[in-house]
Amino acid sequence: MEPVIAVRNLTKTYKKLDAVKGISFEVEEGEIFGFLGPNGAGKSTTINMICTMLQATSGDITINGFDANKQKNRVRESIGIIFQENTLDEKLTANENLMLHCRFYKVPKSKRQARITEVLEIVDLVEKRKDRVETFSGGMKRRLEIARGLLHYPKVLFLDEPTVGLDPQTRAHLWEYILKLKEKEGITMFLTTHYLDEAEISDRVAIMDKGEIIALDNPTALKDQLGGDIIELSTEDNEKALEEIHEKIEGAEVSVKDDTIHLKVASSDAFISSFIKTLNIPITKLNIRKPTLNDVFLAFTGRQIGEPEDE
Ligand SMILES: Nc1ncnc2c1ncn2[C@@H]1O[C@H](COP(=O)(O)OP(=O)(O)O)[C@@H](O)[C@H]1O
Ligand SMILES: [Mg+2]
Repeated sequence: MEPVIAVRNLTKTYKKLDAVKGISFEVEEGEIFGFLGPNGAGKSTTINMICTMLQATSGDITINGFDANKQKNRVRESIGIIFQENTLDEKLTANENLMLHCRFYKVPKSKRQARITEVLEIVDLVEKRKDRVETFSGGMKRRLEIARGLLHYPKVLFLDEPTVGLDPQTRAHLWEYILKLKEKEGITMFLTTHYLDEAEISDRVAIMDKGEIIALDNPTALKDQLGGDIIELSTEDNEKALEEIHEKIEGAEVSVKDDTIHLKVASSDAFISSFIKTLNIPITKLNIRKPTLNDVFLAFTGRQIGEPEDE
């Protein structure tokens, strides 16, 4: 099967900055493909190049069989985009916003109203169709934008940080809609996020940092790659505890964040539990967990997602 999106050696160079540094990847039909990375990683730049909103400096992009550099209109007709910032007209009603989009995408007049109802049903906004967007909550606006992105039956839906700025409950709710879409309509989805839990929902995740893809696989495989368990502990004297850890565990993989020591071990087996018992510094907090995608990012970059880099 042909991939829906194929990207080869894609770069974007601004005056002083290589925002995207020659990345390559493919997206399969029907999958949720996630781009995970901190602010400034190059996620939006990449998405905008694939969507033909931004000219690439070099590289090839094929999407739905069209060349994004040469067949911009064909690409645009075949995709839906939900941008990072709100692009609805607040003074218009939900229906008017969607109608505009129908005209823009040349949905035949006779089909417009039915199609609008159809997409509003997907995001539970049928009752609000005549209300002005300025009266909507943040979550409702996002849902309306998703509805708009679906109006012209796109094969691929792009979502750039779809839930940024929403409260956790609204985020979870919005995700239900997105997953429903994947199931019902079989749409391929390409999303960017810096939220770990959102990346977890993806079928495959590309972890991006400083314009490069540093890892790409399904979330489980990415975490399995790290293996083992992570022990988080706080002690009455972390400095001394660290010394002791290095003394007793050869090649210990340790890092300290805030007042917590993170210790990566092959497994939280008998050795480590007995070690903790014999630690001479009293432990004030202890937690054993499996690696997360943040740990994967940490392993590759030495920092956490969302943690600014040391200058
Ligand atoms: N128009 C522009 N001119 C110069 N630099 C830009 C421009 N747009 C983005 N950048 C820079 O490119 C890098 C990647 O940005 P972006 O793709 O928006 O990252 P992300 O979406 O992952 O947060 C950042 O360092 C950003 O400052
Ligand atoms: Mg962005």
